[in-house]
Amino acid sequence: PRILLLGPPGAGKGTQSSNIVEAFGVEHVTTGDALRSNKEMDISDMDTKYDTPGEYMDRGELVPDAVVNAIVEEALTTADGFVLDGYPRNLEQAEELEGMTDLDAILSLSVGEEELVDRLTGRRVCDDCGTNYHVEFNQPEADGVCDECGGELVQREDDTEESVRNRLEVFEDNTAPVIDHYRDHEGFVEIDGEGTPDEVWTELKAAIERKA
Ligand code: AP5
Ligand code: ZN
Repeated sequence: PRILLLGPPGAGKGTQSSNIVEAFGVEHVTTGDALRSNKEMDISDMDTKYDTPGEYMDRGELVPDAVVNAIVEEALTTADGFVLDGYPRNLEQAEELEGMTDLDAILSLSVGEEELVDRLTGRRVCDDCGTNYHVEFNQPEADGVCDECGGELVQREDDTEESVRNRLEVFEDNTAPVIDHYRDHEGFVEIDGEGTPDEVWTELKAAIERKA
């Protein structure tokens, strides 16, 4: 299936994408991870405000469309089934995506603002394999150590309170209209993202089975 996962920063897109990959055998296409691996890439020849993706990301601003569109275009041409996470983030990107592929299921995770702030400021990620944890909601077995690979758990540069507030504002201004744009699509399902990760997964999985 071709799945689009939408939702604000901290809604659980990364967490649930792992479940989708495991259950449906699709590829995880995520602009956030792709950009984090290319934070220092020189984009100054594109006449952009900053010279690297990392300068946008650490402030919680959107990386320019041209950079992001190219990443998704390349990833989708080689993927059979996929879960797309982190894209599109504005209406221009949504229009670009329509020229690249059709979608079977469009799932939108909704979570209230204060819960999002708590989730993001408490998030820790494995420095080696990228697995997500939370200081309260999703603790590793040993303090500060990844269950999967033994790597060190660190805080993301953009998970400071200041950057989180900015990301939520950018979401309201740019990405909320994208969600509204997809509401009429036959594959669209809105999912309550405030339950436990397992509860959210149960609902999400049922929605994918219905649509895809
Ligand atoms: P990106 O990496 O996409 O970040 P994001 O959208 O802000 O999403 P997050 O990864 O922060 O949250 P998530 O929804 O995946 O939640 P998670 O599962 O981790 O983008 C980063 C930056 O890259 C952007 O700011 C921008 O600069 C740039 N960028 C990326 N795409 C772009 C694009 N298309 N255009 C332009 N720029 C782009 O969960 C969060 C936490 O909560 C974790 O700690 C987790 O353990 C916990 N948690 C998860 N589910 C639950 C639950 N049900 N209950 C309790 N806790 C939970
Ligand atoms: Zn790890």
